[in-house]
Amino acid sequence: MNSTTRHELLLILDFGGQYTQLIARRVRELHVFCEIMPFDTPLEKLTARNPKAIILSGGPASVYAAFAPVCDTAVFEVGVPVLGICYGAQLMARLLGGSVEHAPAGEFGKTTVKLDETSSLFRGLPAETSCWMSHTDRIGMVPPGFRTTASTPACPIAAMENPDRRQYGVQFHPEVVHTSVGRDILQHFLFDAAGCSGDWTMSGFVDDAIQDIRSRVGHERALCALSGGVDSSVAATLVHRAIGDRLTCVFVDTGLLRAGEGDRVESVFHCRFDMPLVRMDASTRFFASLKGVTEPEKKRKAIGAAFIDCFAEQARAMQGIPFLVQGTLYPDVIESGSSVASTIKSHHNVGGLPADLSFSLIEPLRLLFKDEVRDLGRALGLPEELVDRQPFPGPGLGIRILGEVTPENVDILQRADAIVERVMRASGWYMKVWQSFAVLPGIRTVGVKGDERTYAHTIALRVVESSDGMTADWVRLPADVLEEISHAITSELPEVNRVVYDITSKPPSTIEWE
Ligand code: XMP
Repeated sequence: MNSTTRHELLLILDFGGQYTQLIARRVRELHVFCEIMPFDTPLEKLTARNPKAIILSGGPASVYAAFAPVCDTAVFEVGVPVLGICYGAQLMARLLGGSVEHAPAGEFGKTTVKLDETSSLFRGLPAETSCWMSHTDRIGMVPPGFRTTASTPACPIAAMENPDRRQYGVQFHPEVVHTSVGRDILQHFLFDAAGCSGDWTMSGFVDDAIQDIRSRVGHERALCALSGGVDSSVAATLVHRAIGDRLTCVFVDTGLLRAGEGDRVESVFHCRFDMPLVRMDASTRFFASLKGVTEPEKKRKAIGAAFIDCFAEQARAMQGIPFLVQGTLYPDVIESGSSVASTIKSHHNVGGLPADLSFSLIEPLRLLFKDEVRDLGRALGLPEELVDRQPFPGPGLGIRILGEVTPENVDILQRADAIVERVMRASGWYMKVWQSFAVLPGIRTVGVKGDERTYAHTIALRVVESSDGMTADWVRLPADVLEEISHAITSELPEVNRVVYDITSKPPSTIEWE
């Protein structure tokens, strides 16, 4: 038994919808634990989990397409409530004897929908409301036993239900915030139709996870590569709560971190949380391995290899530790298509440990989304400035310095980066964006400071919004915030006389410059 099987569970069958993870987050926000499973998960595997309800997600296919994803029809015979969303609703209509057709006009974005208030899903909601639509097919005929419960001019069957069998379909997306009554609809489904009580809370998660980790680790010891980022910090704190000083954290100070990072990590984890922490100052080793390296991929490989060497050295020095703590999150688990715990010789954050180091993984965050990890960090008492941190790449400032990475260049970039963070936080923009940072492109230009000609560095400012780092757009920061950053950098850093703003999206650029 693990911490999740003690809770009510909702299963989401994923048909490849762009909002599937959003459905899961919305359900969990209502304190019902849920997991996403592939659409073709065998029925026995689904029923073995004893779900309180099932949601069929949206998806890009047409239910009539030759290789359209289809779930086991017996899902509708299990006796638990089923909610189909968009493609999920169309599939429900088709599999249960209704029909789906290509709509003469698709609906995309906010759409006014008429709701039938006598439906238990729409109880107490306005008769007309704004919902988020994204479809080209529509339900043409409801299956026997169903009735229509919502409509738009272009989609006469925008929702349907068979209340006796507790089966519901909605063409629109209740999980998207633009569906103003989306939360109410999910609430009605979870609590009225499925009879959930909402037993999933962060404090409950902490208690259960601690119990699980204790029973897994027994009297053994565990090791954690602490980077100072949110995920490894939260994972380490949770495991430390469970097994105390039998957890040792290794923090490799690469010399390529943000200004003051090493001391910050030491003061939070060693001083405040009293965790056994090995702080390894490896900056000399990293700079040596980067000497003369200018090609971005070679730089990344050199940094990665130096990191592995350091971590492996520490791990060998502490022989006989069988467990390695890793901050894997749920989106990685979903993407890798497996929710089964694994034993490895290497892992992606510590990237390929030598064969003689074989650990069993402890991944206490593997069922959590990033915002839940942040909540967990707060529940564990981690300081806010650590919990709300923007992502920071493993190779650190090494991939934000174009050309050779030297201690002098890192020093300039650290000071510029600290100014960017300071102004972004003070202006309230830090938490609104995915990442905001400085880049040292290695360009010198002519300028004038105090009537003197200067020939100094340029700093590039990169501020992007993104939901997952896969695509990104540059942020239209207000001119006064840009001006403040530019002014602070050029006046506080004698080595810099120019600041430029990167206005490219990803693609065609990437977020980092290398
Ligand atoms: P790119 O530059 O590929 O970055 O658009 C996408 C996101 O990934 C982060 N990033 C990394 N994170 N190790 C990491 O842990 C890496 O090697 C790495 N490279 C890029 C980047 O900061 C952005 O959030």
